[in-house]
Amino acid sequence: MEKTILITGGAGFIGSHVVRLMVNKYPGYKIVNLDVLTYAGNLENLKDLESKPNYVFVKADITDEAAVKEVFEQHRPDGVIHLAAESHVDRSISDPLAFIRSNVMGTVNLLNAARALWGDNTEGKRFYHISTDEVYGSLGSTGFFTEETAYDPRSPYSASKASSDHMVRAWHHTYNLPVVISNCSNNYGPNQFPEKLIPLAINNIKHKKAIPIYGKGENVRDWLFVEDHAVAIDLIFHKGVNGDTYNIGGNNEWTNIDLIRKLCEVMDNALDREKGESEKLITYVKDRAGHDKRYAIDSGKLMNELGWKPSLQFGEGIEKTVDWYLENDEWLNNVLSGDYAKYYSQQYGNR
Ligand code: NAD
Ligand code: TYD
Repeated sequence: MEKTILITGGAGFIGSHVVRLMVNKYPGYKIVNLDVLTYAGNLENLKDLESKPNYVFVKADITDEAAVKEVFEQHRPDGVIHLAAESHVDRSISDPLAFIRSNVMGTVNLLNAARALWGDNTEGKRFYHISTDEVYGSLGSTGFFTEETAYDPRSPYSASKASSDHMVRAWHHTYNLPVVISNCSNNYGPNQFPEKLIPLAINNIKHKKAIPIYGKGENVRDWLFVEDHAVAIDLIFHKGVNGDTYNIGGNNEWTNIDLIRKLCEVMDNALDREKGESEKLITYVKDRAGHDKRYAIDSGKLMNELGWKPSLQFGEGIEKTVDWYLENDEWLNNVLSGDYAKYYSQQYGNR
């Protein structure tokens, strides 16, 4: 094998798309997917890769220092693409410590393990930390986050991600660890756990259940199709400048209410329902505590320096996403019922 790449959180939403891209595009790389399989990690996302000779799954917790060390010693990765994290803002509000453990402590364990393995011999080595635009805080009705925007995280989730970004930069400056960071806007697409807005709404519309909209639905997010994020990650991993940060966004801003109306229209079409039927399910509920008003990313650096651009228009991306969820009933039912844990033990025993 030319190289070994350790991908953390590869059984999750974005991670599974990154693992698939890397395994298929680089048959000469050994891809090691390290994931503890929380409620959000699901090996069904990677069923198509199980027989690939360049793919290995390791069940381990990044908060477990000894387990992380062992994985690094056994597989000796040349590169790390770190996605494992607790990722849902609402859960961070009810259980912040879980976010500090996985997102901050877990990241530090990985940084230490990479440093211990690579020492001063960092030629061809890279630690790539995947982060979020939420570290920059909340925008008013104008302006964009750039790589120079000061950090101003406001939720336990974004504060834990901001903290991990600072740790990664500290390991770069203090120990010369070769690192790169990217901060991406909201992703959507196949395999997203149905606690996040778009898959939750798809599932509720399908079952004619209320679609909960926080507050007045006026908060704005910049949505990017997950496969376009995976392409950006591949590019930044291979071509990004050591120590640099890259913002990734869809240049695709929607208020939550407009987004849900669009989704209702696509779902009415897909389900042969009368126009306007799904919109009747929209229900305004209590706002999220500390709800950030607007996120919007300036991806100019990534576009100009590395030549990336999103491949899909939002209309196309949302239709693909709806089709995927409607065609993958079993995935959705398994994820919702927790049956994927059974799948794991059938497939892998207690490993
Ligand atoms: P996800 O919740 O779908 O998946 C996270 C994965 O990490 C799961 O497979 C889970 O089992 C694993 N994991 C969690 N804690 C772990 C631990 N302690 N040890 C090992 N594995 C653990 O998340 P996602 O939406 O795919 O996000 C992936 C990364 O991208 C995160 O770092 C997130 O902050 C970042 N990000 C997400 C978005 C988005 O819109 N979803 C946008 C920008 C950045
Ligand atoms: P979410 O998908 O949780 O992503 P994030 O909070 O990381 O941006 O939420 C996207 C937006 O949708 C956010 O403004 C909160 C809002 N939202 C709702 O209005 N209702 C819901 O049930 C959920 C989960 C989110």
